[in-house]
Amino acid sequence: MSRSFHVLTFGCQMNVCDSSWISASLRSRGWEETVEEEADVVVLNTCSVRDKPEQKVYSVLGRIGPRLQSIPDGFAVVGGCVAQQVGRAIWKRFPFVRLVFGTDGVHRVPQTMDRLVRGEIGRAALLDFEDAYPERHGGLPDQIPGQAFVNIMQGCDNFCAYCIVPFTRGRQKSRDIDSVLRECSTLVQRGARELTLLGQNVNSFGLDRPSSPSFAELLTAVADIPGLERLRFTTSHPKDIAPEVIEAFGSLPVLCPQLHLPVQSGSNRILKAMGRKYTRERYVDIVRALRGVRPDLALSTDIIVGFPGESEQDFQETMSLLDEVDYAGSFSFMYSDRPGTQAAAMPLKIDRSEKLDRLTRLQRRQDELTASHLAGMVGNETTVLVERPNQKQFGSQIRWQGRDPGGRIVHFDHVIPDLAGRMVAVKVTGSGGHSLSGETQGAPW
Ligand code: SAH
Ligand code: SF4
Ligand code: F3S
Repeated sequence: MSRSFHVLTFGCQMNVCDSSWISASLRSRGWEETVEEEADVVVLNTCSVRDKPEQKVYSVLGRIGPRLQSIPDGFAVVGGCVAQQVGRAIWKRFPFVRLVFGTDGVHRVPQTMDRLVRGEIGRAALLDFEDAYPERHGGLPDQIPGQAFVNIMQGCDNFCAYCIVPFTRGRQKSRDIDSVLRECSTLVQRGARELTLLGQNVNSFGLDRPSSPSFAELLTAVADIPGLERLRFTTSHPKDIAPEVIEAFGSLPVLCPQLHLPVQSGSNRILKAMGRKYTRERYVDIVRALRGVRPDLALSTDIIVGFPGESEQDFQETMSLLDEVDYAGSFSFMYSDRPGTQAAAMPLKIDRSEKLDRLTRLQRRQDELTASHLAGMVGNETTVLVERPNQKQFGSQIRWQGRDPGGRIVHFDHVIPDLAGRMVAVKVTGSGGHSLSGETQGAPW
């Protein structure tokens, strides 16, 4: 009976979190995790947010299919957002796929894989949406030493005009707060120093559950867990950010001075067409309030260029917002038609060459802003939670990489060989385009 597996993950941190739970759960059931080339079962956790990651899934399946079909008991499992979108149709094109699962099916994947290898079933689909957040048991994820991600909700109710997520992840389902707190406490007891709370729109946590505490209340409760040193969350929809969440940045010391607040566009006309339900002015007010309570807040965002009907004037408004907010970083994307969304049916699509040109201009400006933001950190003293060694080694010194409270990558050299998961005090001595470098001060802890 074959029991070796490899997981390939695409997409957002929620997929990373789901994959790591699946891996941990499979290992606890006796499966052996191995490299892709040697695995009997390859699990693909997929993303459908733009056309490119969707196409990538098909090309990976094309690549891994011949080997899986040539070994006894070899098969593939396809899960996540493309699986939810395409469903059983994937079997027609890729017969070596024996399990397809959507996001509400994650908790049943390990037991279903056991049944598949035992030959009890030939093929399975776990594609139904559930009414409540499906709790997962066992197999706590461990991805980065000292850090852990905790799902607090599933799905999204916003239906932004361009977005496929509400179709692939279903309606918003908040998790029971006691389960969230239990998981957070267990992770901290097991050595997590930093927790990141995850959801497509964490600010609307609890709104789908009568009598559930709000996101601000959840944040306060998690921040109170003894031993927790850093707390982050993502993603935050500006329209739902409560004043109490803004205040939390000033009042909760463990809450890191970092916020990803996707704006998508700086043009009110485009924001309206996208169905984002806030204006540029309201967004800037939120930023001002956040910086009022936490002046060192590192803000990042997501931007879509070339939404249907976006004029050069609209795009210029996005460019000026970049400067007005002075983002520490941004993720920007060319608009991509997604099946079933409102925007896919909109007229006035923008040419790819024009979208690419806007994206290039925007990214160039962001690179300048990021570099000057990082240069402004030189001379500061900060604390780094160490993630992993960098490739380079200089004599007895190892180059390490970690993150400061603002989420910036910091490189430094140290002789200690097992620093991952530990904290070090670092004096920032240099900055590059995307990271900082520094010298350690004193002993790690
Ligand atoms: N829930 C998050 C977004 C998740 S999708 C939020 O609301 O902030 C991550 C990002 O992908 C989005 O913020 C958006 O910038 C981008 N995106 C989503 N759909 C897209 C599309 N059809 N084309 C291009 N980019 C898209
Ligand atoms: Fe997509 Fe909008 Fe929901 Fe984010 S809030 S997942 S962009 S529909
Ligand atoms: Fe992608 Fe699904 Fe996340 S579409 S971004 S993996 S929610």
